[in-house]
Amino acid sequence: MSNNKKLIWDIPTRLFHWAIVISLCYSWYSMEQSNLDHHFLSGYTALALILFRIIWGFIGSRYAKFGSFIYKPSEYIAYLKTFFKRGDGKYAGHNPMGGLSVLALLLVILIQTGTGMFADDEYYYFAPLNDYVSGSTAGRITEFHGINAKVIFGLAILHILVIVFYRLFKKEKLTLAMITGKKPDDQDRYEPIPGSRLKTAIVLAVIVSAAVYAIVNYL
Ligand code: HEM
Ligand code: HEM
Repeated sequence: MSNNKKLIWDIPTRLFHWAIVISLCYSWYSMEQSNLDHHFLSGYTALALILFRIIWGFIGSRYAKFGSFIYKPSEYIAYLKTFFKRGDGKYAGHNPMGGLSVLALLLVILIQTGTGMFADDEYYYFAPLNDYVSGSTAGRITEFHGINAKVIFGLAILHILVIVFYRLFKKEKLTLAMITGKKPDDQDRYEPIPGSRLKTAIVLAVIVSAAVYAIVNYL
């Protein structure tokens, strides 16, 4: 066991991750139950979370920043060549392919919450921005919203399978790091983050929550 553990994932990124997992699952579940009131609430929560994460990708701590996991094209090729090599662990944050999958997940979640805001059940439930589009457009958006939900869960299953692959084959315990924030680093290669920037995160959380509240109630 390693004693040399480095803080890599800040608290906001970790909270975002597990909160978005819960809110997406609850959005799905509430839809299965035809409980649109709860579906709206969990959808607004997911919207606030994804807006938070996108802005955090610019002002968060080092490894949460998009810039830290968007690489040069040659780096993707180099990474793919060593993909089936065991226990490399060169990257402290998201590796090149991991970074791409993160961007894809964040994008589909943004699209899901965005389209949800225009959706309706053609009968009783009309999302806050539904008035801004025609009935037929809203119908198409709602249909797309249903398809994109399946895309999200398809990608999420792939995401989990890849993490299991890393655990079993590459012997990297990624999940523990998404819980504790820390990764073992016996070879002293990673530069830890100095902290979680919690004050900034709290201010940002208040701002995005207020923005979503305003969109829902005043637009
Ligand atoms: C956060 C992620 C979300 C997920 C995973 C999700 C998932 C779903 C799913 C699976 C459906 C069923 C589509 C179908 O049967 O064709 C649906 C419908 C719907 N969603 Fe979402 N949704 C999300 C966010 C939102 C948001 C933010 C709103 C905005 C209030 C919203 C409003 C609606 C409405 C109005 C419908 C149509 C209900 C109906 O056809 O009876 N959703 N959603
Ligand atoms: C609906 C299900 C899920 C979604 C949508 C999802 C989405 C995401 C996103 C967007 C990230 C990027 C984190 C960031 O930088 O903000 C991420 C990373 C991560 N997720 Fe998930 N996740 C899901 C389920 C899970 C589950 C069930 C596990 C654990 C078993 C898990 C483990 C991880 C780990 C370990 C990372 C970091 C990967 C790395 O080290 O590069 N996720 N996930």
